[in-house]
Amino acid sequence: MGTRLNKVLARAGLTSRRGADRLVAEGRVVVNGLRVTTPGVLVDPAVDRVEVDGRPLPASEPHEYFVVYKPRGYVTTRRDPHGRPVVTELVRGARARLYPVGRLDVDVEGVLLLTNDGSLTHRLLHPRYALPRVYEVVVLGRVAAGELPAWRAGVQLDDGFARPTAAARAGEVAGGTVLRLTFTEGRKHEVKRYCAALGHPVRALRRVAFGPLTLGGLRPGQARPLTDREVGQLRTVR
Ligand code: URA
Repeated sequence: MGTRLNKVLARAGLTSRRGADRLVAEGRVVVNGLRVTTPGVLVDPAVDRVEVDGRPLPASEPHEYFVVYKPRGYVTTRRDPHGRPVVTELVRGARARLYPVGRLDVDVEGVLLLTNDGSLTHRLLHPRYALPRVYEVVVLGRVAAGELPAWRAGVQLDDGFARPTAAARAGEVAGGTVLRLTFTEGRKHEVKRYCAALGHPVRALRRVAFGPLTLGGLRPGQARPLTDREVGQLRTVR
């Protein structure tokens, strides 16, 4: 068993898959002392010695994936200049340096993915894939069922039109309404701006799903590694 050479080169962070094809075609890649000219040749990076321009590949880190239930008060970053708690502190047992995939505001809680898989991160956040993000929102004031068509129609925000792909009522609380809204973009403060534009400022916001990932049994502040199945589901997001 092996992995295609161009994939191995791309995974090592040297270049894209296409760029790797070029490196190979240009005769700059040597495997076990032999110059290789077919990008699809199978190699095992743990066993085979792969060199580019005479230098061994940088050791590639295995990918790690964790889902955390971000509590309010945590900043979605690796380090906060103001010394506030950061989401990466919530993950214990990761060997790699993990990065949050997208952002939740400091006063927002819910599902957040952390990983060192840069290409998956890029895909999940790319607008082309329109990954659904489901939010449970407590808004100020009463939103009657009859108003939901207006919530589904969308509004013009200062950075463009915004429209949830789903909007439903999920209950009532004193002075407010609980809504479930699904957006397929990760624009800054999008949910808060959307609700405010409809005349119902957000009192509390929780993301309950990020694509196929949900909170499951997690409690605020808890984290768990993704299962292989979940990683597979994220990889097939299209
Ligand atoms: N929308 C917001 O307003 N805030 C978030 O953190 C995420 C979506």
